[in-house]
Amino acid sequence: MTSRQSPLAGKHVVLGICGGIAAYKSVSLLRLLVKAGAEVQVVITPAGKEFITPVTLSALSQKPVVSEFFTANTGEWHSHVDLGLWADCMVIAPATASTIGKMAHGVADNMLVTTYLSAKSHVFVAPAMDLDMMAHPSTTANLALLRSYGNTVIEPDTGYLASGLTGKGRMEEPENIVRVLEDYFAKSQTLVGKKVLVTAGPTFERIDPVRFIGNYSSGKMGYALAEEFAARGAEVILVSGPVSVTASSPAIRLVRVESAREMLAECEAVFSGCDVAVMCAAVADYAPAVTSDRKIKREHSEVPVIQLVKNPDIAATLGAAKRPGQFLAGFALETDHEAENAAEKLSRKNLDMIVLNSMRDAGAGFGTDTNKVTIIDAGGSHEYPLRPKREVASDIIDYIETRL
Ligand code: PMT
Repeated sequence: MTSRQSPLAGKHVVLGICGGIAAYKSVSLLRLLVKAGAEVQVVITPAGKEFITPVTLSALSQKPVVSEFFTANTGEWHSHVDLGLWADCMVIAPATASTIGKMAHGVADNMLVTTYLSAKSHVFVAPAMDLDMMAHPSTTANLALLRSYGNTVIEPDTGYLASGLTGKGRMEEPENIVRVLEDYFAKSQTLVGKKVLVTAGPTFERIDPVRFIGNYSSGKMGYALAEEFAARGAEVILVSGPVSVTASSPAIRLVRVESAREMLAECEAVFSGCDVAVMCAAVADYAPAVTSDRKIKREHSEVPVIQLVKNPDIAATLGAAKRPGQFLAGFALETDHEAENAAEKLSRKNLDMIVLNSMRDAGAGFGTDTNKVTIIDAGGSHEYPLRPKREVASDIIDYIETRL
């Protein structure tokens, strides 16, 4: 692939290099990125400089290499925040067990980790270490955490290691790392110009100022979808119930709501201008008929009976208003007769597709960092394995793209 054809052309790439023997491969990686037309800023850890000199790296990247928070003799400050904003992606190769641990737990004691924590763009992590370090439960757990943050882990290869042993821990070859980045950018341009509505999280239906009817939705699945749509170039409106997760992409407009009625109003206000809508929120089906404006006191009342009324069905309302060319997807969270119930919702709500997740599958549904879904539409059903929610979001959006 020539540099003009590469999806990396013109992209800003932060290349993070840690202190491991595989750092020698970072030179090839840097050369390939530059050859593909990317503008590369190298950030190296202090240990990384023991393995490879900044002179080589700055000559190849044609930029001074950043390693410390400031230049000692001039006092010039290197802003990790600016670097994080500048980057279209960050790739850490090699990523050592130590840096992976710091990234997973926010130990911001060097320029590479602070840049990582400030990065708004997608992050790729290419581990390289000895086989026993790679297999250690702490490495496995830290890599799982990075995946749950939405980072892509480029799995190391199995082969001859610097220790003389043979096993899993060799940093992926630079050509393959470049290919992963190119695939990412090729994908990321597919939804430019599209406007997407995503709902996420639970709704809270007020009983009184201190109590509500709600559910266990954390918002993780909906936010992962919003981030993935945004990473592919879409303009995203994320209508979210009360959650503690946050959205990081500047392409996401976050609209916070509390109740189903508020969520409906926000969705109705924007739906006609959207190309795609994905209803991932766990909307409460019922709300108290009356909301008390004062705390209902235990001492002063009989055991209260809370009369409930049905909430509006947001997905069905949008389904009824849908015009040709708009694509509406829903979710179905089931505990039994899964496929049957999902298919019924698909047709009753006039959806183009429904994503089924079952509370019976370990690691799927509410609160987890992973999900296991089956996509159902008029053409049949497609089952996917248990994966981190960001990767599930990517599968779902890949499928939606085939339908647009
Ligand atoms: O947030 P997480 O912790 O990551 O968990 C993710 C999730 C389990 C919440 C998500 O994957 C999911 O399944 N969301 C839909 C949950 C749900 O409410 O399912 P349902 O089968 O009750 O609803 C079917 C569809 O109708 C959904 O698209 C829902 O958004 C929509 N709906 C439901 C009720 C209602 N009053 N209005 C709606 O729009």
